[in-house]
Amino acid sequence: MRKKLVSTVHDYNILLVDDEIGIIDSIGTVLKRNGYMFKGCTNPHDAIDAVRNEHFDLLVLDFLMYPIHGDEVVKQIRRFNKEIYILLLTGHKDLAPPLETIKQLDIQGYCEKSDNFDQLLLLIESGLKSINQVRTITKFRDGLNKILQSVPRIYQLQPIDSILEEILVQIMPIVNSTNAFILVDNPTEENKDNKSIFRGIGKYKADLDSFWLMLTSEFITNIGTARAEKTNVFHEEGIIIPLINEYQHSLGILYVESLDRDDGLALLEIFSNQAASSVSNAFLHSLVNVKNEQLNNTYIQLKRNYLDTVQALRLAVDAKDVYTRGHSDRVAYYSVELGKFIGLGPKDLQTLKLSGLFHDIGKIGTANDLLLKSEKLYPEEYEEIKKHSLTGAHILSVISFFKDVIPIVRSHHERIDGTGYPDGLKEDDIPYLAKIISIADAFDAMMSDRMYRSRLERDNIKKELLRGVGKQFDYHLVKSFIEIMDKLPPTEDIIMDDLSIEY
Ligand SMILES: [Fe+2]
Repeated sequence: MRKKLVSTVHDYNILLVDDEIGIIDSIGTVLKRNGYMFKGCTNPHDAIDAVRNEHFDLLVLDFLMYPIHGDEVVKQIRRFNKEIYILLLTGHKDLAPPLETIKQLDIQGYCEKSDNFDQLLLLIESGLKSINQVRTITKFRDGLNKILQSVPRIYQLQPIDSILEEILVQIMPIVNSTNAFILVDNPTEENKDNKSIFRGIGKYKADLDSFWLMLTSEFITNIGTARAEKTNVFHEEGIIIPLINEYQHSLGILYVESLDRDDGLALLEIFSNQAASSVSNAFLHSLVNVKNEQLNNTYIQLKRNYLDTVQALRLAVDAKDVYTRGHSDRVAYYSVELGKFIGLGPKDLQTLKLSGLFHDIGKIGTANDLLLKSEKLYPEEYEEIKKHSLTGAHILSVISFFKDVIPIVRSHHERIDGTGYPDGLKEDDIPYLAKIISIADAFDAMMSDRMYRSRLERDNIKKELLRGVGKQFDYHLVKSFIEIMDKLPPTEDIIMDDLSIEY
C-alpha cells in the first residue's frame, strides 16, 4: 500500500549548515529530540552541492562561516533553487547581515544563535507549516490542471463503457492511485434485467460477475450507504464517492483506493462531479438517440402510410377519368425533365415530381359526370371543376411532408396574365415550379386524345405553347421546354412508380 501523505515532521528534510561541528551537534540533538529528519554539513561548498543533488525542504545555516559566509551560500543556492525555505543563524546582532540582503536573497527568517533553541524551533515549525501550505497549493494546482486536461476527454460523446474507462484512467494520476472502480446504473431501455455498468482498474479489472464476488458484504453495504445517503464513505484504505448528477439523482459510485484523504479527497470530489455530469450526459445522449430513432421510424411509417393513401387517391382520380389516365405520371415526368434541363437542384426536382403526381388530386372531389362530360361545360360547371386545385392543396396539407408541394398544386392553374385560378396570381407571384407544372400539364393535354378532339402534332403543340407565352405561360420556360420536347419519350412509356426517388 502506498504510504499515506500526512503532514508529520518526518515528511520534511532539513539541511543544517555550520562550520562549527559543535553547533551542528547541539542543534541536531534538539532537532532529533523533536522528531525532525536532518543532515548536517560543516563545509558551505558541500552544502551548496547537497542542495543541488538532494531534496531538502528547509535550510538552516550560519551566517559567519569559513571559507564563505552564509549570505554567499544562499546567493549561490538561489541561482538554481528558489523553493527551499531558508533560516539564517546570526551571531551577535551587530554581525548580522543587513535586512536588505536578507530580503534580496529571499531568506524567510533569521535568529540569533543562543544556547536556548526555543526560538529556532519555533521558526522551524512555522517554516514547515509554510512549506506544507505551498505543497498543498502546488498539489491542488497540479491536480486541477490534470482535471482540466482530462475533462474534455471524459465529455467526448462515446459509448458509456469507454467514458467510464476514461474516467478511471484520468483519475488515477490525479489522486496517485492504481486501484479503482466505477459502478453506474444503466437506465437505457435495452437493460431489462437492471444490470449495472461496471469498469475497474488495477486489482478491480474484472467483468461485472467476477467483480461482485470480490466484494465483502461490508463493502456492498458501504456502497449502498454512499448511494442512499449521497455521501462519501470510507472503506478500508479507499473511499466510495457517490456520483450525483445536476438533478441530484444518484447515478452510481466511484471507489478509489489508497487515497490521500486530505487534499486528494477534495480533488477527487471535483473530478467525480465532472465524471457524474459526463455519465449523465452520455445517458441523455443515448436516450435522445433512441428517441430520435423511434421518432424517425414513426415518421417514415407515417409518411409511407400517407403516401400509400395519397397514391391510392391519385390512382382513383386517374381511374375516374379514363381520358386522362396516366396524366399525373406524365406531368410529373415532363416537369422533372424540364427542371433538370434548366438546372434545378435535387430538392426542387423532388418537389416537382410530387407536385406533378398530385397536381390534380383535388379532382377526387369533383363529380364524375362533370369530369366525363363531353359537351361544353356550363359556367357553373366550370367553376366546380376549378375548385380542384384548392381541394388538392387542402388534401395535401394534412402532412408536413407535402409543405413544399402544396403551393404548387394550389397554383398550377394560375396564368402569367393574372386570369388563372384560384388566386388570380400574376407573373412572379406565381410559384416558379407551378409555372413548370402548368406547361407540362398543357403539353400532356395536347398530346392526348380527348372526347372532343384528337391529339395535336408536336409542331402545333409548339405553336400553341408559344401562343400562350405572356398570357398563360412563362416565356423562358416555354423556350426551354420546346428545346427538350422532341427528345421526350412516347406518352405510353411514362410511368412514375416510385414516389421517393432522390435526385
Ligand atoms: Fe389541374
